Amino acid sequence: MKITVVGAGAVGATTADNIIRRELAEEVVLLDIKEGVSEGKSLDMYQTAALLGFNTRPIGSTNDYEKTKGSDVVVITSGLPRKPGMTREELIGINAGIVKGVTENILKYSPKAIIIVVSNPMDTMTYLALKESGIPKKRLIGMGGALDSARFKTYLALAMDVSPLDIHGMVIGGHGDTTMIPLTRLATYNGIPVSRFLSAEKLEKVAADTMVGGATLTKLIGTSAWYAPGAATMMLVESIVRNQKRIVPCSVYLNGEYGQKDICMGVPVVLGRSGWEKIVTLRLSDAEKAAFEKSAEAVRSMNGALSF
Ligand code: NAI
Repeated sequence: MKITVVGAGAVGATTADNIIRRELAEEVVLLDIKEGVSEGKSLDMYQTAALLGFNTRPIGSTNDYEKTKGSDVVVITSGLPRKPGMTREELIGINAGIVKGVTENILKYSPKAIIIVVSNPMDTMTYLALKESGIPKKRLIGMGGALDSARFKTYLALAMDVSPLDIHGMVIGGHGDTTMIPLTRLATYNGIPVSRFLSAEKLEKVAADTMVGGATLTKLIGTSAWYAPGAATMMLVESIVRNQKRIVPCSVYLNGEYGQKDICMGVPVVLGRSGWEKIVTLRLSDAEKAAFEKSAEAVRSMNGALSF
């Protein structure tokens, strides 16, 4: 198994670090355009092997795609992150050019790779990568819902003063502060609806905190987060390479599912060795359906800013 992570910045390096620690591949290539950065970070990471006890070797590459040849899974994190006060959508211009170029280069050397897009605005970047590459839709996956769901579970656990491990919950829809949909109605604590433990007001606050979860961190840190994004991306990679068939909300191409066509948006999918294997159809309430529709409108209008 060979995995490439493009972009050795905060999210890319954290993703690679998580992947090598769990030994998800024999080889992990970390590629960046900044001279020496990916080589330096890879060596730094490899120096933790003797301390932490793993055998996977990370390999750095300054823009040399030959080194990525034959990758089974490729994660794209290259691009600008947001600064305080910015929306993910404001990154579209510059990141579209980067994602397009990177996808082309990757497919030259790894035509069969499963591609995970992390760069923002993620739903639109996933759509762009799919349209530009023409690869089968099941091999193109956008990471957003896994992170938003982890934030949702954390806020629920904090509100209930319990372990996040005992919470199940999902965030679907677009990966944006106003477009994501935390499914509070379906969230459970050890199988029991969380509405049994939290008032409607408290649940609303959890949902609101989840939606601005990324912006809250950006304000505190001064740039966007990386620990949870890196762990969420690794979780997607793990389910694919270990064929775990986990159900994770991911941005995938919809062709009528959830009432939407020709758009990439977050819905629960089964992740296995061939990519996203199927879409899980949840029975949404009328309010949730309306929220999904509104979210799709926003994502579609963002896609309209792309030029092919
Ligand atoms: P960063 O600035 O730390 O790293 C980005 C890296 O990409 C830099 O090292 C840069 O040199 C590299 N890069 C730029 N153009 C490149 C190219 N053409 N080829 C190869 N490398 C290139 O940014 P960070 O924090 O790692 O975020 C990366 C992206 O991920 C941003 O767009 C951010 O908004 C997004 N993000 C998405 C999340 C999600 O849930 N989908 C969560 C967190 C961040």
